[in-house]
Amino acid sequence: MSDRGARIVWMLVLCIGLTSVYSQDYYSHVRPIIIENCFPCHASGGIGLIPLTTYAEVSSYAAMIAQVTQERYMPPWLPESTSKELVSERVLDDEDLILLNDWLKNGLKIGQPQIQMDSMTLAAAHDQKEQDLIVLPVSNGFEHYGVYYEQYQNFLLSYDTDYDVYIDSIALVPGDSSIVRSVRVATIKDTMAPIALDEWDPREGYYHFGSVGIDTESSIWYTWQPDQEGRISPPGTSWVLKKGHRLLVHIVYGPSLKAKSDSTHLILRRGPRTSQTLCTEKIIDRSDLLSDPFPIPSGKTAILYAVDTLSERKVLRSIYIHGQLYSRKWEVFIKSANGEAIELLKILDYDLHRNEEYHLRQPLTLEAGATIHVRAHYDNTEKNPYSPSNGKGDLLHGYGMFKEIFTVEFGLICD
Ligand code: HEC
Repeated sequence: MSDRGARIVWMLVLCIGLTSVYSQDYYSHVRPIIIENCFPCHASGGIGLIPLTTYAEVSSYAAMIAQVTQERYMPPWLPESTSKELVSERVLDDEDLILLNDWLKNGLKIGQPQIQMDSMTLAAAHDQKEQDLIVLPVSNGFEHYGVYYEQYQNFLLSYDTDYDVYIDSIALVPGDSSIVRSVRVATIKDTMAPIALDEWDPREGYYHFGSVGIDTESSIWYTWQPDQEGRISPPGTSWVLKKGHRLLVHIVYGPSLKAKSDSTHLILRRGPRTSQTLCTEKIIDRSDLLSDPFPIPSGKTAILYAVDTLSERKVLRSIYIHGQLYSRKWEVFIKSANGEAIELLKILDYDLHRNEEYHLRQPLTLEAGATIHVRAHYDNTEKNPYSPSNGKGDLLHGYGMFKEIFTVEFGLICD
């Protein structure tokens, strides 16, 4: 290229660079942000209630979008940026916020549709032989009566084995994605208790606020959220469905104005036998509290603090906080055996409805002697925006709308 040619190319690049700052348009700038950060919760029928799939939809909500993103209410992401690096952090950067705002101020330009299709890549293991896949119906047409509050329903799956089954991928296909808000899959030894619980609930499965209603004695495998794809076990590890164990699936249904029915499916892929397995140990709970504040008196707040010392080496890969409507702040940190402090997860505005399992980008090995610290702030006053009792009545420990628990589960890589 001649010098002159090169100069022209540079000028063009500059012009494009400059104009793009002043003329954001829907197709080139706004839509990619929406697709990456707001789908599929806001695709049609998603749990986000308002669809954000077309120019007409996005532009009609533009002011609201600018506001909820500015306030960092959307996309939902609770951990503070000081937390350890987590998988799929859903945080818009400042440039995105400015862009959304400028697009609104400058008249919601539409632009040209892109030529290539923006495919929402659902990582389906199509190349797998069918016999490796175990497809399990979960909710079998569960009837959602069309009520404007969340429902917590549990399903015992009839998959029983005479031998250990090694699983290397888990995926969930929600039946009606406008109501399925989150799903937890656990394995259990005891099948009698859930069968008994099932009997008194006329619908599919059984209702239990916030949990599976029994002590699972075993591990939580997987927590699914609407914008999550299937999970593949890290190399050399797998989930194991032990002989005689069953699967129990806990689904949180969001509110709906209309009655609906849901048939969600769980898909497991058989993998090779591995020596390391993924397990969850409920490491920190009420029994680890340094002082127990329950019942928390009406109109009072309390800080709960628990410390657990590891007696053996553990490899940590995920954290799941299990507070309900009264807990507002959570801080989980580690002091390693050689005294180093590591902040794992910090949430300053906890919200049960946006809770999820947080996966560390890199598994963290903790040697024996390391301590895990959990500090939580509970608010039993009328200032707590989520409190169902407005600070009236003493707060007891336990599952239930008007109770509160203190549990943090750590996903581990076990031998
Ligand atoms: C993980 C799922 C999820 C993601 C991702 C998500 N939303 Fe939402 N959004 C919701 C849910 C659920 C609601 C319904 C209201 C609620 O629960 O607060 C909602 C509500 C909204 C509302 C209505 C707010 C109101 O006050 O009623 C807007 C606007 C919105 N979202 C915009 C966005 C935008 C823009 C993005 C991406 C930058 C996004 N959301 C990403 C789940 C999500």
